[in-house]
Amino acid sequence: MQNNRRIVRLTQDYVLRPFDCGNADLNDFLQNDAKAYAAHLLAVTYILEDETELLAFFSVSNDRISINESDKATWRKIKQEFPHSKHRSDYPAVKIGRLGVNLAHQNEHLGRLIINFVKDTFVTNNRTGCAFITVDALKDAIPFYQKNGFKLLKPSDPDNLGKETVPMYYDLTQLL
Ligand SMILES: CC(C)(COP(=O)(O)OP(=O)(O)OC[C@H]1O[C@@H](n2cnc3c(N)ncnc32)[C@H](O)[C@@H]1OP(=O)(O)O)[C@@H](O)C(=O)NCCC(=O)NCCS
Repeated sequence: MQNNRRIVRLTQDYVLRPFDCGNADLNDFLQNDAKAYAAHLLAVTYILEDETELLAFFSVSNDRISINESDKATWRKIKQEFPHSKHRSDYPAVKIGRLGVNLAHQNEHLGRLIINFVKDTFVTNNRTGCAFITVDALKDAIPFYQKNGFKLLKPSDPDNLGKETVPMYYDLTQLL
């Protein structure tokens, strides 16, 4: 990683530096909640940093995608990735619960770097089965996730327009 950038796991003794990604809820989660989530095994947060700055953060937790959260056409496509004997009504996933890039460093492809890190980690270095990445994407971030290969779980849902976040998924099996 360039410029001595590194991704480290947030521990209880990690000293958080100031951070602003432009979203108050995400900023607040990082500064005030992320360590408690880790302490209760609810989510693990990772920090992208260099010597001087906290560049970005993201948190992940176990998840699943299920037929109930999808529409029929999308679920048919999802199932097609698996042999018939492995057709199920849900599949294991990892959820990107939070993701924020420092305002001063947005559009430098740090978000993409993080998504690629998650993709790589959960395909090559994961200790449990995990076939998908999920995210409840904030409206403004949908194009970012689409550029990173994510799809809407319910593309035809008229409710998508009125919701604050929209469920999206990435199929890790395409990387095999
Ligand atoms: C959304 C966010 C994580 C993207 O991170 P980033 O490092 O700025 O994005 P990247 O530079 O990796 O962008 C990758 C691609 O997505 C595009 N992109 C990024 N954000 C976009 C947006 N809001 N709308 C349209 N395209 C976007 C970039 O132009 C780039 O396209 P390219 O490959 O053609 O150059 C970041 O802007 C952010 O932290 N936003 C505030 C918090 C937020 O919305 N988090 C998401 C929570 S679900």
